[in-house]
Amino acid sequence: MISRDTIEEIRNRLDIVDVISDFVSLKKAGQNYKALSPFANEKTPSFFVVPAKGIFKDFSSGKGGDAITFVMEHEKMSYSESLRYLAKKYGVEIKEDKQSDESKAALSEREGLYILMNFAKDYYHTQLLTSEEGMSIGLSYFRERGFNDRTIGKFELGYALNGWENFSEEAVAKGYNKELLEKTGLTVKKEEGTEKERSYDRFRGRVIFPVHNISGKVIAFGARMLGKEKNQPKYINSPETEIYHKSDVLYGLYQAKNAIRQQDVCYLVEGYTDVISLHQADVENVVSSSGTALTESQIKLIRRFTENITVLFDGDTAGIKAALRGIDMILKGGLNVRVVLFPDGEDPDSYSRKVGTTEFQKFLSDHTQDFVSFKAGLFASQSAGDPIKKAESIKEIVTSIAQIPDPVKRSVYIQETSSLLKIPEEVLLSELNKILIQERRKTQTDNSRDREVPPISDETIPEISEPVKIDAQGMVELQERETIRLLLNYAEKEVDENTLSDFFLRELDDVTLTNPVYRQIYEDFKNGVSKGEIPNSHYFIQHGSEEVKRTVTDLITMRYEPSKHWGDKFKIHFSKEDELVSELALTNVLRLKFRFVQKLMEDNLQKVKQAESSGTWEDLDEALLAQAGLKEAEQGLAKMLGIVIAR
Ligand code: GTP
Ligand code: MN
Repeated sequence: MISRDTIEEIRNRLDIVDVISDFVSLKKAGQNYKALSPFANEKTPSFFVVPAKGIFKDFSSGKGGDAITFVMEHEKMSYSESLRYLAKKYGVEIKEDKQSDESKAALSEREGLYILMNFAKDYYHTQLLTSEEGMSIGLSYFRERGFNDRTIGKFELGYALNGWENFSEEAVAKGYNKELLEKTGLTVKKEEGTEKERSYDRFRGRVIFPVHNISGKVIAFGARMLGKEKNQPKYINSPETEIYHKSDVLYGLYQAKNAIRQQDVCYLVEGYTDVISLHQADVENVVSSSGTALTESQIKLIRRFTENITVLFDGDTAGIKAALRGIDMILKGGLNVRVVLFPDGEDPDSYSRKVGTTEFQKFLSDHTQDFVSFKAGLFASQSAGDPIKKAESIKEIVTSIAQIPDPVKRSVYIQETSSLLKIPEEVLLSELNKILIQERRKTQTDNSRDREVPPISDETIPEISEPVKIDAQGMVELQERETIRLLLNYAEKEVDENTLSDFFLRELDDVTLTNPVYRQIYEDFKNGVSKGEIPNSHYFIQHGSEEVKRTVTDLITMRYEPSKHWGDKFKIHFSKEDELVSELALTNVLRLKFRFVQKLMEDNLQKVKQAESSGTWEDLDEALLAQAGLKEAEQGLAKMLGIVIAR
């Protein structure tokens, strides 16, 4: 833990223009600076730095924040990594809050594991390139698969000699202790404590695929057999260790991350060889979950770089099944999902080698479809002329749509399904509502078993039957209410490697709440925090005005009864909270800003109208310019929220 004083010191010394200039070439524009967005491909600059406020704003991607946020976003560092980076840059000495001996020991054990894994990676790589067996067996296998030297180097591929203790002996000779060797799983011990106790190398006579973490450190290996021995698994992988949690890792992410950010899409394939073959076909934004089902944390990992995932899979039944499962997981994670189906019997690896780089890239762009049309096509072939099958397939599609957390997005997909399948929207909506209610019941009963968090707000169920006029001010206030509710209930929870209250105070620095009661609570909160104590609900209930007391009481005890109503009326989204408060906090900040911008647009529109009827040209110009700026901000935020704005 970096101490508060140190963080303060770093903040005082840094200069945001200086920090960002290390990565982006800034041009002066009046008091401020602008540049092409480092987070998106663009031709006109939409990236701004405002030194007076110490912030940047990127309208293309919607990203924005202070210098620390910039380093986190641009370098994909954690909060504390960014602080360390900046401390080094500005010569600030880091003081840490006291660490227990236990956590120190854990830290040095992890260090040891990293060092040994790195040694092993170098060892296997050298064997592949220089030993006789490595070259004649391992290297020639990779050659057969079409991997060139550059690729072999980029993925640090290797070869494990076919003997019992080659690696272990070498490691011991280099001074690594046996206990550590076992901890990494590189050495296996059998029949421990008996007379027959023996140990040997886990990987023998196999080619080696190192698995890197996001910063490029090797944390595990996959090892593929070469011959056709029957009683052996094709792949053997490292076991889980202190530094390797299989479900939190994506193979190839380290090599792919820049390309994913640039292309704003991540391809997802099945295995090691698919990832590598795609690189050879100049498609570098690709990762794999290495033969296991995609997990929630893997999706979160991708989300750090893009909101868009395209799943590539082979057209056999197993491939389709896996893809279907993956699609729902991704949707649930709030990301956009598309699919590419390969001809039966081909996987991305075989197909890219068969048709070559140009053809392959063309195939990808021609065959990418969104999940609704993919699912519709899949079931259309099975259900032609069969009404029962057809009903089932509709249910399948709507079930996927129900996974999407954002109600606005859901309704867009409902519309698409309606026109694609020629089914009235109302029919799909009532199906959707049924599923949403079912799932909500399910999570609520799951929750009631052990509840530590305050009551859950209602999930919004959109009823599109009566079109309602949307009131921008009302939506701003509802989102403000949600902000206060999160602060009151979850101030101490961790968000973005920080507490939720720190996160909100940081992110909402440039926002003034419009509702006077919420503003009062927010300001008191801020004061409390600056004095080093987070005011809790008791504080407000004891010291607040009548209004404040009532509001606070409502927000901590009430179930948001009217919120369902609001949901219908305003299309405001209240997430299910049993998932992650963190996620909720992040989107809340964005939503608040989004609603706020919409409110400003509505207000400014009056100015435009006035200027049109009675103002000068300059007035009109100014109002239109402001409107365009707001529109841009709205779109930036909408993009981050995954909302499609009607024009
Ligand atoms: P070929 O396509 O036959 O050349 O083999 P491949 O090396 O490309 O592997 P395959 O396409 O059969 O499998 C795809 C992915 O599934 C691999 O990259 C692995 O991640 C995983 N996989 C395959 N077989 C095994 C196995 O026996 N054990 C484990 N743990 N994973 C496997
Ligand atoms: Mn394969």
